[in-house]
Amino acid sequence: MKPVIERGSIWVLNGPNLNLLGEREPGIYGGDSLADIEAHCVDAAHTAGFTMDFRQSNHEGELVAWIQEARTAAAGLAINAGAYTHTSVAVHDALRLLTIPIVEVHLSNIFAREEFRHRSYISATATGVVCGFGSHSYVLAISALAARMDL
Ligand code: DQA
Repeated sequence: MKPVIERGSIWVLNGPNLNLLGEREPGIYGGDSLADIEAHCVDAAHTAGFTMDFRQSNHEGELVAWIQEARTAAAGLAINAGAYTHTSVAVHDALRLLTIPIVEVHLSNIFAREEFRHRSYISATATGVVCGFGSHSYVLAISALAARMDL
């Protein structure tokens, strides 16, 4: 077990259908399960000196409640809102309340896919966006959050 230097908590929030990663369209999203991704995120966060809070919900309102909670509990937030990325003004409005760094994450390159995936309600609220690197997108997002907090 690696020592954790407490710099606060990085939160990773996952939206609908991401609980089925590994089984869901592996040609697009890869073979890692959400539990595999969580393990990579915990490692990346601990290496950077943070604890990790990793959650998934299929419900828009639950994601909104967690974003509100992150406002005071998290040092940084990575969010893959799944399909709510392209539809949710409620998620957008909740993210606007945060002053911590936010990274929008996607496994797939949403800009290389269907046109309806090109619009994101998350991007305008985010410090930055990582997409297209499969499960490694999450590790890149945590590394970017940690670097941002070093500034
Ligand atoms: C996704 C891309 C979204 O368009 C899609 O609805 C998802 C997953 C991704 O990680 O690539 O559920 O956010």
